[in-house]
Amino acid sequence: MFLFHVSLALLALRLVSAVAVGGKPSVNARADTFNNPVVWEDLADVDLLRVNDTFYYSASTMHFSPGAPILRSYDLVNWEYIGHSVPSLDFGDSKYSLDGGTAYIRGIWASTLRFRPSNGKYYWVGCIDFWHSFIYTADEIDGEWTQASSIGNNCYYDCGLLIDDDDKMYVVYGGGTDISVAQLSDDGLSEVSHQVVYTSDISREGNRLYKRGSNYYIITDDPSAGTEYILKSTSGPFGPYERRTLVAGVGSPINGGGSLAQGAFVDTPAGDWWYMAFSWAYPAGRIPVLSPITWDDDDWPETEFTNNQWASSYPLPLPARPLQSFTGVDNFTSIGPEWEWNHNPDTSSFELNEGLVLRTASVTTDLYAAKNTITHRILGPKASGTILLDISAMTDGDRAGISMFRQISAYIGVKQTGNTRQLVMVNGLDMISSSGGTSDWVTSSEGSEVATAALSGTQVWLRVTADIAPAAIGTTSATFSYSTDGNNFTNLGNTLSMSTDWEFFMGYRFGIFNFATSKLGGSVTVKSFVHASA
Ligand SMILES: *[C@@H]1O[C@H](CO)[C@@H](O)[C@H](O)[C@H]1NC(C)=O
Ligand SMILES: *[C@@H]1O[C@H](CO)[C@@H](O)[C@H](O)[C@H]1NC(C)=O
Ligand SMILES: *[C@@H]1O[C@H](CO)[C@@H](O)[C@H](O)[C@H]1NC(C)=O
Repeated sequence: MFLFHVSLALLALRLVSAVAVGGKPSVNARADTFNNPVVWEDLADVDLLRVNDTFYYSASTMHFSPGAPILRSYDLVNWEYIGHSVPSLDFGDSKYSLDGGTAYIRGIWASTLRFRPSNGKYYWVGCIDFWHSFIYTADEIDGEWTQASSIGNNCYYDCGLLIDDDDKMYVVYGGGTDISVAQLSDDGLSEVSHQVVYTSDISREGNRLYKRGSNYYIITDDPSAGTEYILKSTSGPFGPYERRTLVAGVGSPINGGGSLAQGAFVDTPAGDWWYMAFSWAYPAGRIPVLSPITWDDDDWPETEFTNNQWASSYPLPLPARPLQSFTGVDNFTSIGPEWEWNHNPDTSSFELNEGLVLRTASVTTDLYAAKNTITHRILGPKASGTILLDISAMTDGDRAGISMFRQISAYIGVKQTGNTRQLVMVNGLDMISSSGGTSDWVTSSEGSEVATAALSGTQVWLRVTADIAPAAIGTTSATFSYSTDGNNFTNLGNTLSMSTDWEFFMGYRFGIFNFATSKLGGSVTVKSFVHASA
């Protein structure tokens, strides 16, 4: 996250992506190696932790709710979604629920997740809206998370939590030139003190704090240069720290991917260290890649790059333990942790009943202002999302369908006018940042109908096929199709030329929606969602 040095970062992104080289196809992988990216999905600002032999991953979700997804792995390579640290964006602002405005790109970013052995609790810490920090805790990582406290007078900007061997809790944080460390109270829910531990000549962010042996380490990132630094203190968490460069202008293992940023370290039970960071890769988002770390004789970490290139393949950290595929059929017997709503949903307007029943929750002509759009990450580099929609309970003025959902969007859907239902493809939905930077997104176009088609019957399959591989503006595309039998799909309308801008931060997602333009009362049932590599 970097709202303070926008143009420099954009420049760096363009420069680094121009020199990045491509990755090898996965068919070349030997069984004892893995391929980058480890997860071809938008999972930015990775934080990693290990509890015994299990690894967990926390990521940013901005305006999506629930926020801060948690993934689990036993080998650092195969991951599965297991829950969220922030069940609802309850930060004292109704805009997070699409009431009285929107909260696009606010919410969850660059936060941290840790386990505290002394009380068996998990802690999530993050700064919200640049002025206050929240702490969420849970007794089981995939159980119920609750907002345990807020620290109103300090923003833990781009923070990393360390729970020390003596059970003391420290948070490293800071954008701009100062890096600070706060000490938390014994219960971990309030701040005891904080101090600046390092002042830099450059503006940085993405801070993490680790202890190895008796040394303390901070990873911190200069996004304008694509550089990640490592700071080391031999005299405690408050420093003084010495600095070295960990990564500078390294080539991305993702074909066309941009610079690497905001990484995290984790060790295996055997004591091997690994480093995960994201590669900027719009329109897909920020995609995680993994590489080993070694330690030199002076206890500085070093990366394993040849010709400053993050490799597309490395030896496996641990014996592979495959988990459930990221593609497949979802029949909505539950709403799994891979789903996130656009803003907090109106929980009274959906239910599970032989599918996901979406009652219209907003009267609006603007998809970006409509409540209860439910979103799903897209498995890159190319995938389709297909919904089977029961439309028998739609009413006059309703619009339901599936979108390629970002600040420049398009959709295929069903539109009801009077008693007539029609297929419709709408393109050109657009939001712009009214501040001209990364904040205050407002709808500048609700889109226009590109094509319609006649529709009879009470159910229809709607499909989006998207190539989200990082590419030059104007060359990325998504297409939209429908079927009345689930086999024969017919294209409708034109292609969406996807935005490759980074300022919206989140990458493209499939967004399933149902909103009213006339009055509430109608509903649709999403009978199934099929996520397939294309
Ligand atoms: C980690 O392993 C130890 C030793 O087997 C066990 O006592 C402990 O409960 C485990 N911790 C968690 C959180 O599973
Ligand atoms: C989902 O439902 C379809 C039919 O509606 C069925 O063929 C399929 O087996 C179901 N899949 C799962 C994973 O339950
Ligand atoms: C596929 O669907 C289209 C549109 O409904 C129709 O024109 C075409 O004949 C169908 N093709 C087959 C092989 O059923």
